Amino acid sequence: MRSTVLALGAAALLGAGNVLADDIPTCSLDKKCPESAPCCSQYGQCGVGAYCLGGCDPRMSFSLDSCVPAPVCQDKTYKMDKASMSRIVDIGSYLGDPSKADWVSQGEPVSYNDQTLLTMPKNSVGTVLASTTYMWYGSVKARLKTSRGAGVVTAFILMSDVKDEIDYEFVGTELTTAQTNYYFQGIPSYVNSGNITVTDTYANWHEYEIRWTPDQIQWLVDGQVGRTKKKSETWNATANQWDFPQTPSRVQLSIWPGGAATNAKGTIDWAGGPISWDHEDIKNYGYYFASFGEISVKCWDADAAPGTNKGKSYYYNSYRATNDSVVDSNKRTTLASFGGTGTDMDKGKVTGTTQSSATKSGGAAAATTVPNSIPGAGSAPANQVPGGGVAAGGSGSGSGSGSSGSSDGSGSSGGSASAGGDSSACGASGFSQSCEEGGSGSGPSSSNNGVRTGASALAAVVGFVGLMFL
Ligand SMILES: *[C@@H]1O[C@H](CO)[C@@H](O)[C@H](O)[C@H]1NC(C)=O
Ligand SMILES: *[C@@H]1O[C@H](CO)[C@@H](O)[C@H](O)[C@H]1NC(C)=O
Ligand SMILES: *[C@@H]1O[C@H](CO)[C@@H](O)[C@H](O)[C@H]1NC(C)=O
Repeated sequence: MRSTVLALGAAALLGAGNVLADDIPTCSLDKKCPESAPCCSQYGQCGVGAYCLGGCDPRMSFSLDSCVPAPVCQDKTYKMDKASMSRIVDIGSYLGDPSKADWVSQGEPVSYNDQTLLTMPKNSVGTVLASTTYMWYGSVKARLKTSRGAGVVTAFILMSDVKDEIDYEFVGTELTTAQTNYYFQGIPSYVNSGNITVTDTYANWHEYEIRWTPDQIQWLVDGQVGRTKKKSETWNATANQWDFPQTPSRVQLSIWPGGAATNAKGTIDWAGGPISWDHEDIKNYGYYFASFGEISVKCWDADAAPGTNKGKSYYYNSYRATNDSVVDSNKRTTLASFGGTGTDMDKGKVTGTTQSSATKSGGAAAATTVPNSIPGAGSAPANQVPGGGVAAGGSGSGSGSGSSGSSDGSGSSGGSASAGGDSSACGASGFSQSCEEGGSGSGPSSSNNGVRTGASALAAVVGFVGLMFL
């Protein structure tokens, strides 16, 4: 899954705007963000606003409290049906209140037959959904059908802000294998993966579960335990710690082009070879797609930390970022505007008008005064949120620095060079998937709170027409 991060990192980089791509501060463990753009996103770029929400890595940010506290775990079943679509909002319209949205999206989720399809049109970087609440241990189940084809990867993972990770990944040429993996703080390891054999993952619905406790991780398919990893097997004597996922994590669902030409060879090989943009799914439906049915989260709900969800939010009080560094608190999780950060959550608050109207305007007022801030704003400030809808016209300037500097290769998921950037014509449109729309300044999905517009509607139509022939 490292490569997912990295591939999306490339998109982030490109999404950051053609002109200023070189100016985007990047971040890593060795290079924290500057005070002016204090938050280090999941994809290793500094900014404010949405950069400080889900995925913000406190270890790489200007200070530990630059990131906004993360909403605590909630037991919940997500139907992923048509009605659920209004609970999926573009990353450019979300300010941190989980009562307003279940998932933050980049790319184009499409509703079809009471399922949610994550789509990947030609030359795009696919689609990712991330939950708005975090799980600190617990169980998550997803009913899904994977995508297929060389170079096409479907993923269902748990990922914490300090990059503890528990994965299911599916390679489109290996439709009878569910690859499982885990990482501690994103440290690459070649020995963490394991495979579970299943019947055709593209043709059949299966229920994939991750059961995660302070003592072990279990991966279950259709209720059968396929793999168990015990914490006791993960002692790292060099580092004197358990290399075991242990911090609050978001559920992330994605489809992404592991076989994109700009990825590292190791990633492309792992993903089943170069992706073909002339595949029958592209021809017939307009995109590659993975189908998601019901998803349910059951919190661990311990009486005492680790693993509680008694307060409103989690934050880290130490750079070690182990499970005893996590505080279950009552701190607020919502920014007043896209100019805000964890240390100035009311920044850009609009007085004399309602917050929601400020939000609906995409925080444009703040955009003009605050640099590196607003995802999806028309003026395209330097640091868009990763994939946050800066329009087409790939700059091809991906430098690879979109990845967190610490990510120097990985296990089966391939190497970090995948952050190389996509120089194809609609590469930059990646998440907005608006190749047809040309390079207008604002992303099609900018500040549309859950409303599918522009390219999204097109995708929906294409998807509907295409899938009718299934
Ligand atoms: C899992 O399956 C893939 C694809 O068949 C293979 O390349 C990999 O080596 C397997 N991993 C393990 C741990 O068996
Ligand atoms: C142990 O931890 C160190 C420091 O984080 C890391 O470099 C090393 O790869 C780990 N060892 C194993 C076997 O994963
Ligand atoms: C989590 O915290 C508990 C209590 O502080 C500790 O005993 C345990 O080893 C920790 N688990 C991991 C995976 O680090």
